[in-house]
Amino acid sequence: MTIRNLDDLLAEGVSGRRVLVRADLNVPLDKQTGDITDDGRIRAVLPTLSALVQAGAKVVVCSHLGRPKGAPDPQFSLRPVAGRLGELLGAPVRFAEDTVGDSARSTVADLADGQVALLENLRFNKGETSKDEAERGAFADQLAALGDAYVDDAFGAVHRKHASVHDVPARLPHVAGRLVLREVEVLSKLTGAPERPYVVVLGGSKVSDKLAVIEALLPTVDRLLIGGGMCFTFLKAQGHEVGTSLLEEEMVETCRNLLERSAGKIMLPVDVVAADAFAPDAAHDTVPADGIPSHRLGLDIGPETVAGFAAALSQAKTIFWNGPMGVFEMAAFANGTRGVAEAITKTDAFSVVGGGDSAAAVRALGLDESSFGHISTGGGASLEYLEGKTLPGIAALEN
Ligand code: 3PG
Ligand code: MG
Repeated sequence: MTIRNLDDLLAEGVSGRRVLVRADLNVPLDKQTGDITDDGRIRAVLPTLSALVQAGAKVVVCSHLGRPKGAPDPQFSLRPVAGRLGELLGAPVRFAEDTVGDSARSTVADLADGQVALLENLRFNKGETSKDEAERGAFADQLAALGDAYVDDAFGAVHRKHASVHDVPARLPHVAGRLVLREVEVLSKLTGAPERPYVVVLGGSKVSDKLAVIEALLPTVDRLLIGGGMCFTFLKAQGHEVGTSLLEEEMVETCRNLLERSAGKIMLPVDVVAADAFAPDAAHDTVPADGIPSHRLGLDIGPETVAGFAAALSQAKTIFWNGPMGVFEMAAFANGTRGVAEAITKTDAFSVVGGGDSAAAVRALGLDESSFGHISTGGGASLEYLEGKTLPGIAALEN
């Protein structure tokens, strides 16, 4: 790989230099209280930030949070993240009220060597996500003016052709941060020559989101286990009625075709937990996958499925898991996700957990993070990497 990394930048010396770090601090917030419910992405960027602090850089961190529409929107402010980042770094983080305006410029100008500032949400500016090169470029110019060098440590956003990811590195000396480097090292093992059997577990709600990765993985994997909301479109393709479960009717034919071509590699649920409603206290039962009552919806995979998936996983030497198996946020429908996660921790396979949701599930269910080989901070990014797509953020670092 021809990408320069943080060590190359540190070797040049960064003391007194302004280093602009693109991080992915897009953390989940509690809808009621606004509290950070999972700080995994903040912790993941600490190695890069600490190294820069110790080397005496003026560290300018930028990130997106959520999907605001190109204008300031208080519910997506990064301010709470600045507080948490400061706690984790053990030193206060200065917060700029805007991204490239007066507050950002003066905050950066006031930084002492070894101090850290966080800019307000990149997506409060239209230029960040614009499809118009000139508009994106103009914003990238302003952002690049706040740094003397650029570090990309936002693995979760490398699949976005956004100003801070794709256009700023064209304007500043640029390197990959520790997190991006580690993520790419790990994922390239999966696209290279993974030790076999290579078993992939996919969940999450939408088949349409996962189609490209299923297509890309089918020739490579030994087993593909499918759970989560997306399994119902596959069950329908197998000829089963799925009641009021999540269903992408227009994908049924595609799923049928995938099943035909999968040479038996695809494993689907044989039982599901079907409920009266999408609610934590809904009446529910475990039913066979071909016996979902017409008035009920599946919210989790059943115990027999978990046992079957666990047996397949126990053989594996390499595992990639993306997407929860059920509505793990509700205790009644968390057993599938917990069961699969526990089965993964019990193998001696090299295991990679990909994705915001599955990574959050690991932590929310209180599982030991260290019993997985790697927990990726990127959902869409890790899937697109496995699809073999060119990732704009990685490509920009290669130039
Ligand atoms: C994510 O959470 O998937 C990343 O932070 C990217 O966010 P996005 O999907 O809104 O671009
Ligand atoms: Mg995403």
